[in-house]
Amino acid sequence: MSVSPIKVFITGAANGLAEVREGLADHPEVELVGTAADPAKAGSKLAESGAQVILHGTTATDHVPTSEIEAIRGVTAAPIVLVTSASANALLSEALSAGIFDVVLLPQLTDGIVFTIKKANSLAAGRPGGAAKTSSSTEGRVITFFSPKGGAGKTVLACNLAATIARHQSRKTLLLDLDLQFGDAAIMMGIEPEKTIYDLVMARRELDSDALAGYVTAHSSGVHILPAPLRPEDAELVTEERLGHLFAVAKESYDVIVVDTPPFFHGPVLSTLDRTDQLVLVASLDVPSVKNVKLTMQTLDLLHYPKERRHLLLNRSGSKVGLKPQEVERALEMKVEFEVPVEREVAVSVNRGVPIAISSPRSGVGKALQDVADKLVPQRQAGKSESGGGKKFRRRG
Ligand SMILES: Nc1ncnc2c1ncn2[C@@H]1O[C@H](COP(=O)(O)OP(=O)(O)OP(=O)(O)O)[C@@H](O)[C@H]1O
Ligand SMILES: [Mg+2]
Repeated sequence: MSVSPIKVFITGAANGLAEVREGLADHPEVELVGTAADPAKAGSKLAESGAQVILHGTTATDHVPTSEIEAIRGVTAAPIVLVTSASANALLSEALSAGIFDVVLLPQLTDGIVFTIKKANSLAAGRPGGAAKTSSSTEGRVITFFSPKGGAGKTVLACNLAATIARHQSRKTLLLDLDLQFGDAAIMMGIEPEKTIYDLVMARRELDSDALAGYVTAHSSGVHILPAPLRPEDAELVTEERLGHLFAVAKESYDVIVVDTPPFFHGPVLSTLDRTDQLVLVASLDVPSVKNVKLTMQTLDLLHYPKERRHLLLNRSGSKVGLKPQEVERALEMKVEFEVPVEREVAVSVNRGVPIAISSPRSGVGKALQDVADKLVPQRQAGKSESGGGKKFRRRG
């Protein structure tokens, strides 16, 4: 893949920063465009370097080096990654509010640092505009489930919402599993796919609606599923560029695309956010979950992801665990828009591979997802063709 290297400028000082510089100097995905120990003196050199990401070394342990950050901010808007070898708890807690993109604790493998640099660059590159685009009424809308905590219920909810929309709203629906390493949407839907997104990205043929139809597996609810790669090591082949193309084609073929994600932000998730019309943040009634969703909100703010497209869903609500929905709302400064109750049959449905929204649409979970579908998928517009793209949806049940 021929992508131009990311221009990185290194400022400040930290134990191990020289090794970082050496590692990056030889790295094909990075171009070092300058260094300056004192950012206040870097001035025009930094401004004219065209740097896309700033790595700033610091020895401060108890606070963000505000004056140094301001000196950098005075000449460039490029994202700043702090680099330190000290244990830096205070730094970590202050960094986000100080507008720092990330904090890297040394020692660190060069590849790890390059990943952070790529993440910072991909966030900064056109995100304000990128994230702000909305689907026009004629293209499929993208609903993405995200939670920074594993086990929150993203996959259960994504599978059931997709099944509800396909079955009860008769919409052409694609379930896209972007938990690329450990995706289990196919298992939860009880299908054994012949092809996955891995086959799609490896194909030589240009992707169009017809080609896409050859990679999805139809579920009895009517949902089409594009599963995650079968082997975790194949995940990295699904690049942001290919995902962008996949979304463009899928939006032409489907009314709704429901996306399941892993519990962390990485390139494909960021790229998905850019194309997401409705982002459902899954929280639960426990303090770590609330804390992590709060951090996610701050990241979304940094990405300029519009607030009106964020929806807070409380999963396993009604569990008597001491935390109340109102307390979650207060902590997150956001209304709980959807509540999905805890139900024993969910585990049974997961193990049987039959979405509960299909086997028991009148269950609490089934009704809650019907509510999500009604609110997030607008009423069908009169006159809009349902057989667009010549695609036929086979229903078997
Ligand atoms: N509302 C619910 N009631 C009862 N059980 C639930 C509910 N939601 C989720 N679960 C259970 O929690 C388990 C984990 O859910 P799920 O796999 O959807 O989480 P996840 O957020 O996708 O996790 P990961 O980040 O690891 O992919 C499921 O197997 C299911 O049994
Ligand atoms: Mg999952």
